[in-house]
Amino acid sequence: MRDDIPQDEIWNDDAARRYDTPGTGMFAPEVLGPTVERLAALAEGGRALEFAVGTGRVAVPLAERGVPVTGIELSRPMVRRLREKVDEETVPVVVGDMATATAPGTFRLVYLVFNTISNLLEQSAQVECFRNAARHLAPGGRFVIELGVPDLRKLPPGQDGVVWSTRDDYLALDSYDVLRQRLVSHHVRVDDGGGARVFRSQHRYAWPAELDLMAQLAGFALESRHADWEGAEFTADSPSHVSVYRLPEAG
Ligand SMILES: C[S@@+](CC[C@H](N)C(=O)[O-])C[C@H]1O[C@@H](n2cnc3c(N)ncnc32)[C@H](O)[C@@H]1O
Repeated sequence: MRDDIPQDEIWNDDAARRYDTPGTGMFAPEVLGPTVERLAALAEGGRALEFAVGTGRVAVPLAERGVPVTGIELSRPMVRRLREKVDEETVPVVVGDMATATAPGTFRLVYLVFNTISNLLEQSAQVECFRNAARHLAPGGRFVIELGVPDLRKLPPGQDGVVWSTRDDYLALDSYDVLRQRLVSHHVRVDDGGGARVFRSQHRYAWPAELDLMAQLAGFALESRHADWEGAEFTADSPSHVSVYRLPEAG
């Protein structure tokens, strides 16, 4: 596997321009609706902070739903896309690393969705991210993580990659470095003229139990874990999870 791909090489102008798919994929109402409703309920009328807010896929509808939302985001091109939708007053954003950057004020909810904790490539950075969430929260505040469950059961011995889309116009595969607990997702989109564009993202995968330990190191306890935003039961076959961590109440 090649050396780390810098995040700003991944989340550049081109990626930001192509990120939004209004009405479909991760922007489909059946995906976003339950996400926003659950986050609004977990915010309990307080302020929310999205780590890695991106182009505001979730933050914009959550703010429209009446929850005051702030973001932290590393990529200026992604923030520029967000600014085409809402101004700084509606969704303020601090440009910086979600493991270390500080947003002003105290929050009732911090959330980090769409597998994005895995963009932090070291275990220590993922632990720092939990600690940073805790620093932003009032007592009793919640940190919500949406993350895929590592798919290693699909990896046959002696093979280091799994193909997961073979559509004519979209090929996708994950290549694994199991020693370093890393994967690279390769997405190949074929256009009408037969040309192809490749997008790659790099991740450090983690099982739910490892996240629970990171949460514990940062002072959280697991409040709930479901397979999706609508509260489906999390089972041994669930491909991803929505986990809610909570700080103790004051006193
Ligand atoms: C898959 S997108 C998710 C964006 C948004 N949360 C959503 O659900 O659509 C991943 C985002 O994480 C951002 N990101 C990656 N590493 C980051 C870091 N260390 N700190 C802050 N943002 C980061 C990227 O720039 C990108 O905008």
